Amino acid sequence: MSSITTFHNMTKVSSFYGKILTIFYQNEVKMLNFAGKNALITGSTRGIGKAIAVEFAKLGANVIITGRDRKSAEVLANNIEKEYNVKAFGIDLDLTGDISKSFEEINSFTQGKIDILVNNAGITKDTLFIRMKEEDWNSVINVNLNGTFKVTQQVVKLMIKQRYGRIINISSIIGFIGNIGQANYAATKAGLIGFTKSLAKELASRNITVNAVAPGFIETDMTAELPEDIKAQYLKQIPLNRFGKPEDVANVVIFLASDLASYITGEVIHVNGGMY
Ligand code: NAI
Repeated sequence: MSSITTFHNMTKVSSFYGKILTIFYQNEVKMLNFAGKNALITGSTRGIGKAIAVEFAKLGANVIITGRDRKSAEVLANNIEKEYNVKAFGIDLDLTGDISKSFEEINSFTQGKIDILVNNAGITKDTLFIRMKEEDWNSVINVNLNGTFKVTQQVVKLMIKQRYGRIINISSIIGFIGNIGQANYAATKAGLIGFTKSLAKELASRNITVNAVAPGFIETDMTAELPEDIKAQYLKQIPLNRFGKPEDVANVVIFLASDLASYITGEVIHVNGGMY
């Protein structure tokens, strides 16, 4: 075979693969396009929730930003609208209270269509179990588990009607390995896994997938308050030798909400740099 023929064949082959890659790439882009979808993220005024909301907005989703403080939710929503040319709505949604009023407002913004729910809001109240007051236990259960229950009940009704939905619950590595001083938090994060798997079975026939993401140590306000020596101990347990960024978690949430993950339900994806 002459070198000219070989060159000719190589060009044909590369343009053939070039086309496939382009089509595949276009397909992927299409599948990662959330235009027209409404995504509600709890606890999205800062940290991991905020990163998730921003990533969704970048990919065209309208976002509902929620937190305890209405003003900060509104400010972030305004910024997102300006920056990413999507609709964004900021509202206070305190998971410890009656959420029905907030949902009336959310439903009027979304016109009763919520495609993606990310149960992200969560708190810690760390103390050794022997010293743990019932109040410390209850407050963490109340936000992390009961709050998830309340919001999901509101949203699932809409998803069942529209026969489409993506629910992603933010658990934690602590729900799998436990931690000294976090019996309450670990119980809620492990509880979310049982919740995820059960709901996945109940809702699959309605084309609703339910998955969980279990972050390791992510740099946010939640972890910022830990003493430096404790942080150093955590770092030693992370084979990738760095703390996670909120975007590391957001990327996986985006994947689970996308069409790329349409055959995944009842699953947990760990985002922890190898910390088990
Ligand atoms: P963060 O403390 O920075 O943000 C928590 C968010 O939850 C805030 O927007 C806050 O307004 C909201 N929130 C708290 N209490 C609320 C309530 N009563 N009602 C409504 N919203 C409330 O925390 P971060 O780090 O961004 O955590 C987000 C989620 O990720 C939590 O569920 C947390 O347990 C989980 N997680 C975080 C890890 C980390 O290393 N930062 C590791 C594993 C899981």
